[in-house]
Amino acid sequence: MKKKLMITALLVVAALVLVGCTQKAPEPTATPAPVATEAPAATEAPAATEAPAATEAAAPAEEKGVELTLEELAKFNGKDGQPAYIAVDGVIYDVSESALWKDGAHNGFEAGKDLTTEIKEKSPHGVGKLANVKEIGKLVTE
Ligand code: HEM
Repeated sequence: MKKKLMITALLVVAALVLVGCTQKAPEPTATPAPVATEAPAATEAPAATEAPAATEAAAPAEEKGVELTLEELAKFNGKDGQPAYIAVDGVIYDVSESALWKDGAHNGFEAGKDLTTEIKEKSPHGVGKLANVKEIGKLVTE
């Protein structure tokens, strides 16, 4: 009887050992696949190149013209290679290109002066002829 118990106990132990050995190891929990890395940031579209700055309009000095005092005007008498300027009613005209003002002289009158009175009172044509020459600026007092 004692022997029978021993065998039973051994069988139980053996069974327990067997069960213990065959116990499956816990399945490794599936690790989530690495999430796809973030989508590459959209590359910035190249900024539109700025339109070239509008080229400056004609130089203001050109638009404004020259500003000369009577004293400064005297230098532009058409002599010694100087341009020939005349002034009428505060406006300065360049008569350098006029064949009628060769070397700054015209019918006894000279360039480099204010000829307002002369053109109005002594010339046969009056101020109308000033339309033939170029206006370049104005006469100033200082
Ligand atoms: C006795 C005095 C003057 C006489 C006889 C005279 C005569 C003339 C004549 C014949 C012309 C050409 C006209 C034409 O093309 O139809 C002329 C043009 C002109 N005159 Fe006189 N002029 C006199 C005084 C003056 C004076 C004082 C000025 C002063 C500003 C002047 C300024 C001009 C100008 C700017 C012209 C136009 C020049 C050109 O077309 O190239 N003139 N003058």
